[in-house]
Amino acid sequence: MRSGTPYEAVFANVFAHIDPEVAHEQAFHAIRLGGPALRHVIRVPAAPRTVMGIEFPNAFGLAAGFDKNARAVPGLLGLGFGHVEIGTVTARPQPGNPKPRLFRLIDDRAVVNRMGFNNDGAAVVAGRLHRLRRSRHGRNAVIGVNIGKTKITPPENAVADYVESARLLAPFASYLVVNVSSPNTPGLRDLQAVDELRPLLSAVKAVTDAPAGSAGRVPLVVKIAPDLADDDVDAVAELALELGLDGISATNTTVQRPVSLATAPEVIDAAGAGGLSGPVLRERSLEVLARLRERVGDQLALIGVGGVTTPDDVRERLSAGAELVQAYTGFIYGGPTWPAAMARAAR
Ligand code: FNR
Repeated sequence: MRSGTPYEAVFANVFAHIDPEVAHEQAFHAIRLGGPALRHVIRVPAAPRTVMGIEFPNAFGLAAGFDKNARAVPGLLGLGFGHVEIGTVTARPQPGNPKPRLFRLIDDRAVVNRMGFNNDGAAVVAGRLHRLRRSRHGRNAVIGVNIGKTKITPPENAVADYVESARLLAPFASYLVVNVSSPNTPGLRDLQAVDELRPLLSAVKAVTDAPAGSAGRVPLVVKIAPDLADDDVDAVAELALELGLDGISATNTTVQRPVSLATAPEVIDAAGAGGLSGPVLRERSLEVLARLRERVGDQLALIGVGGVTTPDDVRERLSAGAELVQAYTGFIYGGPTWPAAMARAAR
């Protein structure tokens, strides 16, 4: 990859030679410890916008998966992200898939992951969020909470599993996301079929409409895959309108391996199964977003995510109808100054 900026030189000479998950952990600890103080250094001009009844400091946020357990929210906000979506959190703690499970396709500035929802479980993460909400840095932070199904929970108990997570986590969430689109939990994406999705979203919405001990209702969002057929995207849009959801997040990673990938086929094959993210997702995610906007009019908020890596991508997503824009993979390749540069475009 190019090594123009200091971070790109560090990436090419250091991170690229370290196992991707180890590199993630090292970067994560640095952000957790050093990030909070950076809010005095990295300044993003305020560009507040109210979406789903929440005031966001700017429209750009960190997508789910980077901070699965809500351990680095103040540090991430210190880098310029307007909000952080934590998770995916499941009702039970679980280790995720065996390692290695995170792979770089450097020539595409892309990533393949099959992490499999490694996380501390809803009760532990709820405790952490509870403490965060009582702290100076966490009180007013915009924190989305993304929930998914515990791997060992059988499909017939999926609704109860999500409901348990929603009960524990909604009281601390700015908004809650039902993730039915990650490719690394067997059967999860089948929940996107409307007949499965209707009872699931209805049950979770009953919780978020009246969360225990919380002042008001918590906005509810569903996150979908880029691999849905257009008809299925339309069906989810209609269901979201019917149920009175607050938003749709489009999109998660893809299980496809487009022929346009520049990475050598043997490198792609060696990575194996998992969700692909990065610029290669841009076109389809944008298409799904524009399609949703056409279907839902101005009745729902849309979160544009997938292949957003440049300030122009942020502007493009906003023009296509997104109220909020998120990214993850661009952060891996862009480094610590990247979130603020992206947030400056989100106005
Ligand atoms: C993800 N993503 C993700 N999404 C989600 O809803 N729950 C999750 O736990 C994760 N985990 C996760 C791990 C890793 C390593 C990556 C790269 C991605 C998907 C992510 O939030 C986003 O939807 C996609 O990655 C597309 O955006 P980018 O990465 O192209 O900006």
